Amino acid sequence: METLTAKDLTLGFGGNVIIDDINLEIPKGKVSVLIGANGCGKSTILRSLARLLKPMDGTVVLDGDNIAKMKTKEVAKKLAILPQTPITPEGLTVQELVKLGRHPYRGITKKWSKKDDDAVERALEVTNMLSLKDRLVDSLSGGQRQRAWIALTLAQETEIILLDEPTTYLDMTHQIDVLDLLFDLNEKDGRTIVMVLHDLNLASRYADHIIAVKDKKIFAQGKPEEIITSELVHEVFQMRCSVACDPLFGTPMCIPFGKGRCVLNSVQ
Ligand SMILES: Nc1ncnc2c1ncn2[C@@H]1O[C@H](COP(=O)(O)OP(=O)(O)OP(=O)(O)O)[C@@H](O)[C@H]1O
Ligand SMILES: [Mg+2]
Repeated sequence: METLTAKDLTLGFGGNVIIDDINLEIPKGKVSVLIGANGCGKSTILRSLARLLKPMDGTVVLDGDNIAKMKTKEVAKKLAILPQTPITPEGLTVQELVKLGRHPYRGITKKWSKKDDDAVERALEVTNMLSLKDRLVDSLSGGQRQRAWIALTLAQETEIILLDEPTTYLDMTHQIDVLDLLFDLNEKDGRTIVMVLHDLNLASRYADHIIAVKDKKIFAQGKPEEIITSELVHEVFQMRCSVACDPLFGTPMCIPFGKGRCVLNSVQ
């Protein structure tokens, strides 16, 4: 099984350090979720793990090899990433976009195969995009487009899947659909999932491992029950909240303080 680790990793842009000398071991065969305030560096970490961003210092090691020295197609057979704001090539249909996920398996001599067709079909099906497969990606709603991109990521059929806010733009039904799908890919196929989520309650429900990022460092990591406490949420997000127990799942449920319509006194 593929492993993904970061050693003494420093990341940034134009000399400006965003992530300072972190070590990170992504638990294999588990679901990990990165949390943290806007701008703390979650996407930066995820992109460097996928080799989309060159570290200022340190290394990312994929399955024992320094990722910087691996061939692009070798990386893409082991690891897929859905970036936070993917840019859709113009004029592509959903199916054409999803087919791009099979690119790592193409070669000068290797023709499109039944296996490629099956992978594309499966990815379209599980993301509920079959009925939209001939539509231009440009013409889709934000949520439909997000699902098309998730389908592309799945068509790549990698053991490690990185997703940056995969539930953004999705209505609640589709948020749960996507997270259930990723949960199944993990449970049934043992895929390693790493994602960024802002919803701490869904993060607590779906994650085996939560990684909280703050002040250029990994502030804390561990099981949701250990990480999602009112103290940590206050430290990481500067937000006061009460942490209760999800009545359906028993996982931590963060209830933010703040203003709003309170009907407690009128409920008997
Ligand atoms: N290409 C870039 N050039 C310069 N600075 C960048 C670049 N990309 C990100 N940054 C900066 O790096 C910091 C971390 O950005 P990053 O996108 O990793 O944050 P994030 O934790 O993913 O935030 P969000 O929750 O808003 O997605 C921010 O201050 C951002 O402005
Ligand atoms: Mg981000």
